[in-house]
Amino acid sequence: MHWKEILKTLTKNNWVSSKEICEKFNVSRTAVWKHIKFLQEKGFSIETQSKKGYKLIFPVDTPLALSEDDFKELSLGKNIFSFIEINSTNLYAHQISDNATEGTLIISELQTAGKGRRGRFWFSPFGKNLYFSIILKPTLPLQVLTRLTIVIGVSVADALKKFGIDVKLKWPNDIMIDDRKIGGILSELYSEGDLAKYVILGVGINVHSEICEFPDEIKDLAGSIYSTMGKKISRADLLLEIVKVFDKNYNFFIYNKGELAEFKKRWEEIAFGRDREILITTGEKKEKGKVIGLKDDGALLANIGGVLKEIYAGEILIETKI
Ligand code: BTN
Repeated sequence: MHWKEILKTLTKNNWVSSKEICEKFNVSRTAVWKHIKFLQEKGFSIETQSKKGYKLIFPVDTPLALSEDDFKELSLGKNIFSFIEINSTNLYAHQISDNATEGTLIISELQTAGKGRRGRFWFSPFGKNLYFSIILKPTLPLQVLTRLTIVIGVSVADALKKFGIDVKLKWPNDIMIDDRKIGGILSELYSEGDLAKYVILGVGINVHSEICEFPDEIKDLAGSIYSTMGKKISRADLLLEIVKVFDKNYNFFIYNKGELAEFKKRWEEIAFGRDREILITTGEKKEKGKVIGLKDDGALLANIGGVLKEIYAGEILIETKI
């Protein structure tokens, strides 16, 4: 028996007696107790009562309770690596990628060195938010594979919509609610010559974190689903939904040899900065403009001072937050 199985049992029940766990997994009471103690030491709050047994108090929506069985109808998620703590799910994905199968998922409750884009740090505290990576091994040309960033972005947005959460996508892939960044995507493509070896898509979504918990540097810019909408949604359910939506979209994308049209249309519908003026920085310069759409290769099309520009490297700033 693994601590993951106990955790899964605890999330599915209110109180679970030690006897039930022992019988279910055919292990001794001491073994059960050892696992419970381990989980408590790692930060899980589990209440124990001699008559009733064990009850998970926090975090009840842990995505670590998900197992391969939850993904059995999908092509992705056939192999899952779950961690209570890891440096970064993207880094781990990278380490195992040579031997990993397509669709392997890496999930963690905490990251000690969460990676953001442009070498930034990704705030990743225990029990609050969602951090996961997917390993893909598609056999399409490299220039087509960069489009996967758009496919995953749209998939995350559409999955959130199923929970009644409308987000905007700020180029290239910031997930926004009310001018606050509530999530980000780190896509990493590893190639050998002209061939892609593997793609790692890392998704971080701030689900329950409160503004006061964010580090000072991002307090004015970051938010979470809870802090912006007052909604507490289950991180396990959200992860499952994102993978479900992405599974469908990814298979469509591969089957159609990297056809982007549908995803591009959706991306443009929810693009941040289409209906308002924004600031775009490319290097030193900051220019006012409006988002027009996306190019097939992922570049941003923006109207800057009446001129249509293609932007490959740069960032959209939020006017009011500068
Ligand atoms: C960004 O800067 O917007 C991208 C943030 C991506 C964060 C996620 S959290 C899970 C995965 N593991 C990482 O280290 N980073 C990504």
